[in-house]
Formats: sequence, C-alpha cells, structure tokens
Amino acid sequence: MSRIRITDTSLRDGHQSLWATRMATSDMIPVLKQLDEIGYHSLEIWGGATFDVCIRYLNEDPWERLREIRRTIVKTKLQMLVRGQSLVGYTHYPDDIAIKFIEKAAENGIDIFRIFDALNDLRNLETCMRTVKEIGKHAQACVVYTISPVHSIQHFVDTALRLQDMGADSICVKDMAGLLAPYISYDLIRALKENVDVPIQLHTHYIGGLAIATHLKAAEAGVDIIDTASVPMAFGSSQPPVETIVRALQDTEWDTGLSLHDLFEIAEHFEQIRKHKGFERGVTRITDMKVFEHQVPGGMISNFYSQLEEQKAAHRLDEVLQEIPRVRADLGYAPLVTPTSQLIGNQAVINVLLGERYKMVPGEIKEYVRGCYGKPPAPIDEEIRRKIIGDTPVIEVRPADLLEPIWEKAREACKEWAESEEDIITYALFPQVALKFFEWRKSRSTEDVPQIQSNEELGPTVVERKANPAAPPKMKPPTKPRAVSRGDEDMNIDEIRELMLLLDQSNIADLELQKNDFRIHLRKYAADTPTAPNPVPNVPQAQPAEAAEVMLDENITEVLAPMVGTFYAAPSPDSDPYVKIGDRVEPGQTLCILEAMKLMNEIKTDFSGTIVGILVENTQPVEYGQTLFLIKKD
Ligand code: CO
Repeated sequence: MSRIRITDTSLRDGHQSLWATRMATSDMIPVLKQLDEIGYHSLEIWGGATFDVCIRYLNEDPWERLREIRRTIVKTKLQMLVRGQSLVGYTHYPDDIAIKFIEKAAENGIDIFRIFDALNDLRNLETCMRTVKEIGKHAQACVVYTISPVHSIQHFVDTALRLQDMGADSICVKDMAGLLAPYISYDLIRALKENVDVPIQLHTHYIGGLAIATHLKAAEAGVDIIDTASVPMAFGSSQPPVETIVRALQDTEWDTGLSLHDLFEIAEHFEQIRKHKGFERGVTRITDMKVFEHQVPGGMISNFYSQLEEQKAAHRLDEVLQEIPRVRADLGYAPLVTPTSQLIGNQAVINVLLGERYKMVPGEIKEYVRGCYGKPPAPIDEEIRRKIIGDTPVIEVRPADLLEPIWEKAREACKEWAESEEDIITYALFPQVALKFFEWRKSRSTEDVPQIQSNEELGPTVVERKANPAAPPKMKPPTKPRAVSRGDEDMNIDEIRELMLLLDQSNIADLELQKNDFRIHLRKYAADTPTAPNPVPNVPQAQPAEAAEVMLDENITEVLAPMVGTFYAAPSPDSDPYVKIGDRVEPGQTLCILEAMKLMNEIKTDFSGTIVGILVENTQPVEYGQTLFLIKKD
C-alpha cells in the first residue's frame, strides 16, 4: 500500500497565491482544530511572504501567529517555506541571522523546513540546512523546477543527490510556475525515486490546469507526498484542490485516506472568509495560461501590466513577455521565482521601454551578474556581462561569506523596541517595517481597547495580544492598515539617524534597506528642515526660464526621462553634494536617479559637456520623455 500523504498549503501558499497573503490569524484560528484532525502529512503555515505581510500590512506579529497555531495544532507537523539565505526576505542575510532565525522558528513550533534557492545554488541552502539538522528538525531541500536547455531530468536528479548528501531528510520538487507537465512529472519523479533514498514531495501550481494530472502521474511514479489547498484557496495560481485529489485517488493503491466530508467542512469555513473579505477565487485567464509560452507566472504578468500602465506603455506587454525569455537566457536561465522573477522581469520592461537592451541596468541586476545572488544555472553571456558590469570581478565564493554578522548591531539598534530575540530577528530582516510595527505595537498596548465579546464573527478583526498569555484575546474593530496611514516620510529624524548609523556600521548587502534608506534620506533633505543636524545641501532647483533660452543654442543636448518615475539628484563626483548647473560631466557619469518600478535607476550621460540646465526639482515626479537636463556638449 503506497498511500499518498498530503501537505495542506492553505495557510501559506494558498492565500499567498490568491489573496495577496492577507489572511489574518483570526481567520485561521476557528478552523485549526479541524485541520489538525484531517490526517495531513503537514500544514504549510509560515514563511514565504507571510512574515513580511504580517508586519507590513496586517499589524500582526508573525512569531505570535506561529505560536498561536502551534498551541492548537498538536498532532500535525507544521511546515514553513525558507528562501535559502534570504530566509523570508528578498536579499541574502548573514549567517548569524540565518542561524538565529531557524533556531527561533523551530523553538516557536516549526517541524519541517522547506528550503529552496531561486538559482538552485546549493551553497545558499547550506547554513539553513545545517542549522535545521543541528537542532534535530526535518530539513526538506527543494529542487526548483524550470524549463531551459540546461535543466534536464539528469540535472534535477544530480541536484537532488547533492542535497541528499548535504543531509536533506526529504526532497521537494518545487514547480512554482505550474510548468511541470504530467508525463514529465512521471519521468522526473520516477528518476528521483530510482536514485534518491529520501522521500520525494511534489509542489506545483494549478495555473494552466496541469496540476491535477501532474499530481496523478507523480502518484503513479511513486511520489510520497503532494501539496494541495482547500478548494476556496485552490485553482488559479494556487495549488490544486485537496478535495479533487482525494476523490481521484479514492479506492486506488494511492488512496489518501482523508475524509471528504471533513475536508468540505473546512472548505466551508474558508469560503466564508473569502466571501466576507472579498477575496478572489482561483481562476485561470488566457494570460495566466500563456505561462506555457513564456514561463512567466500570472502574478508576475499583472505586476508588469501595472508597471507598464504607470509608464503609459500597457500596449507593450507582449513585447515584454517576449523579452523576458531573452533576458533569462542572457542571464543564465535562472528559474523565475522570487527574487529572480522580479529582477529579470524588470530588466525586460526597461529593455523594451528604452528601445535598447541593457542601456539602463538596475543595481539589483548588476549585483546578480556579479554573483551576489549565487551562481546562475548556466554561464551568463560574456558580452552581456561586460555590458552590465564592465571589468568588475565576479564573486566566486558563497555570497553570504561576504556578509558581516549583524545580530549585535541589530540588537543595539532596536533595543528600545525589542521585547524578545524574535523581535530582533524581525528587525534584522525588515528594519524599517519592523520599527514601524514595533512603534504601532507600543502605541496599541497603551491604548484602552474596548472589548468585543463575539468570537464567532468572521469580521476582519485584529486580535490584540498582550504580554500576559493567560489573558483572553481581545477583539478590536478593524483598523486601517498601517501601510496606508503611515509612510516612510513620517519617520522622525532620530529614527533616520539610527538607521543611517546602522547602515554605516555594517556591510550588509541589504538592498531593500539601502534603497529605502536612500529614499528617506533624499526625501528628508528635500524637505530641508532648518532643524536638521547637518548642513543641508541645496538641491538643484528648476530653472525653466534660463533653460528656454539656452535651448536656442544648437550645442545643447537634452537628456530626457526614459520612463515615468521620481527624480532624485545624484551625488556629485566632486566636493559638492549633488550634481548642479555648471558641473562638467564625463561619459558614463550619473546625472540623476530615477525611481521607477520600485527600483533606483541611474541616468547616465553618454557624452562629455557642461550642465547648463536642470529642469526638474529633487523628488519631483517626471513623465516619460520629459526633459531632465540640458547639457552643452564639448
Ligand atoms: Co508555491
């Protein structure tokens, strides 16, 4: 009897794929007991985007969510998704944070750690896997599935064997884009079963509709565990529904043994949540299904669509979708998953908008090409590499080897706020978001919260957690998401200084931190408060009248905005703080920074000359084609 076991992803991937990860802990609590009784192999309930979204949008402590779930789930194993050295974030973190994170996650209730790296660079799994093994938990290592000339079945088997050697307790084939076709699934799972000793699990997404058949063929090939979600959170870009799989395998040698009746009761609960909160059902649109053509997951496509709309270029979506596979090939066939999907996608958008490939390259792509994310599956095209990073040497070591420990610095920087080691980890992962969350939490704990009795109501309630665990949870009427009520600009100067200090003292390659910090920094200086501690430089001011005059000269060249975005003055190469009128510029010099599509893009000059006009004010939004600079050519 080779009964198939099932992991339920409803509380992590299910709502992450369909509901923007917005299910609150209070939505989960009423159904936990029933979930625990089903007989699932495991429940995936934590990690991925859930951590970030908890503190950023839901005003929830992710650690408290984990403890809350663990208190009720006593029979079933709890599972989380770890993005390798990026943990639950978008950039690599130093080893000290990775170790602490895994230890604390285990302490708070995680049994199975599913660990993957976007590039299948196994060095990025080392620290997490070793830590999981040391604390005696289950290390499930992922083989990220994708289609490319280098990703053969043999390649996946070799990867799995290496992961097994590294101590993997099981292997998961992670097909995040729903590309795994049923018959390939059969061959792949069979090859893995023949070569690998540890259990094999399959994680796929429904999207184009292959998933059910893919799971069934995997069952025939001997897969041990498969991932599904409760039907209100299944289909579309999520997992296939558990109910269908259970029925399909009933009375076969792979019978799951799960009760459909009990599963439907759980589905009813989630369906109520869905209706009440207006969450979407999982559906497949034509654009989603086109993943078969270009491998771009549906969620990513809607992202590009809004980016292009912002750039008034929505009609160029097809060009972008054609450009993505080309960029992917140039950059070594990285699977399209967080964060590589965003990197490659954004570069494709920029290539299309600018009409010249790699004319502008975001810092993140430069880092990627330098090897800061790890080693791509295939070598990066030499010519493209040179175009992107010139002669800058490529990092050959494991990227995290270059990161200084930050635990002590993080502890110091958030000592006013942190109530636990978990808080310090939260801070180390998402410094700014964490500070805002801690501040909100502090303000909440001093507020007088009116108590609402009903626990049955499914309303979008925020559950107040007190330091005293014995106290009954208080229900509070819905509050506005903090993200709406409070932006970066609201940070006071002390908070900014503290962040800047932390940044200066550490060598952390935290792109998000650096980026946001830069943004705040510029915004603050633009605000030009007289009380600011340092002499605040005067940023270049618009000179429209003057500009109109100098344009009469035919040696004057205009530098236009290549995309819609926000203009930031670039630091000057000489002693002045910013590039200004009268500055000499050389080819390749950065004139300004244009924030577009959440990226900081340097706008450079192709020629030498003298700046005779700057037509935009610092932090001002600019339109596509708007004149930014007037430069008198030599
Ligand atoms: Co997934």
